[in-house]
Amino acid sequence: MTHEIAVIPGDGIGQEVTPAAVAVLEALDLNFDFVEGEAGDALKEETGEALPQETRDLAAAADATLFGAAGETAADVVLPLRDVVGSFANVRPVRSYPALDAVQPDTDIVFIRENTEGVYSGIEAAVDDGVRTLTRVVTEDASREIVEFGFTYAKRNDFDDVTIAHKANVMQETDGLFLETAQEVGDSFDIDYDTALMDALAMHLVMTPEDYGVVVCPNLAGDMLSDLAAGLVGGLGLLPSANVGEENALFEPVHGSAPDIAGEDVANPSAMILSAAMLLDHLDYGDEAAAVREAVEGVLTDGPRTPDLGGDASTDAVTEAVLDRL
Ligand code: NAI
Ligand code: MG
Repeated sequence: MTHEIAVIPGDGIGQEVTPAAVAVLEALDLNFDFVEGEAGDALKEETGEALPQETRDLAAAADATLFGAAGETAADVVLPLRDVVGSFANVRPVRSYPALDAVQPDTDIVFIRENTEGVYSGIEAAVDDGVRTLTRVVTEDASREIVEFGFTYAKRNDFDDVTIAHKANVMQETDGLFLETAQEVGDSFDIDYDTALMDALAMHLVMTPEDYGVVVCPNLAGDMLSDLAAGLVGGLGLLPSANVGEENALFEPVHGSAPDIAGEDVANPSAMILSAAMLLDHLDYGDEAAAVREAVEGVLTDGPRTPDLGGDASTDAVTEAVLDRL
């Protein structure tokens, strides 16, 4: 069966790391058709539009999308693209690699972040001069969907515990509903789970990340707690992510276009290649995904490494080393 993969490199280092991920997917010799789409700052400068309809249609029609990064137009590109693929779950694995000198070398956490509502619903108002409001939307349906996704993910990926982050003691209506729904779902799975107030959870994540497996979060909490955990394991060059919907999904590194290093062939391609591994898992190529992860981990251990990890190798050299191991 042929899968169509939309590839949207975008701006800055997106142009450098996306071809690396495509080269890795091509090396696996699967039945993938790659179709390239344009988006981002450079395109906006040229045409006045950061995300043209053709690119939206490409992502909507594809079996999966690989996205690099956009620059200043990121919000106009990434948010609509996540929407186009109907993603409700943002999956962000944060793990440390033994060979790297991380703040917390024993971290293996997957944040499952609600991707459609909460304080990112976009309902804001200027009520008066000097007074602005924001409406936080929480629905039972979206809460159930994200928590079921989180528990199913935990089971499928051999995590033996799930943590539900919330602040229901203060946001009694909205997080009250989220927590109540989460507990109902949690009780229906035979897997241990805890609920945790998100502020205290932030401290525990820094001090004892080894105590956590899958962490299911409302939108803003997931955004912040996963970035916090990223700081524990060695930086943005390592972090992949998936935006998953019912039928479609988009895979992207957590990092942006990195204008400070763009064009220098020094960007770490690991985050993007690991995002491609998540794409493989999504399309049920589990063995191939594992092989890609093993190749990346081997290169992280033995080198070559890009400058963000203390090495002096180029993006191309690291990509070649991953391809050699594959
Ligand atoms: P950034 O992630 O682009 O860079 C932050 C720092 O990390 C920089 O010093 C950069 O050199 C380094 N870095 C990031 N990825 C790296 C990699 N693969 N290898 C080595 N070093 C890496 O975030 P920043 O600087 O806040 O934003 C730059 C631009 O990217 C902005 O225009 C922003 O809007 C956009 N952005 C886009 C995102 C997206 O498209 N999903 C996400 C975050 C930012
Ligand atoms: Mg963020």
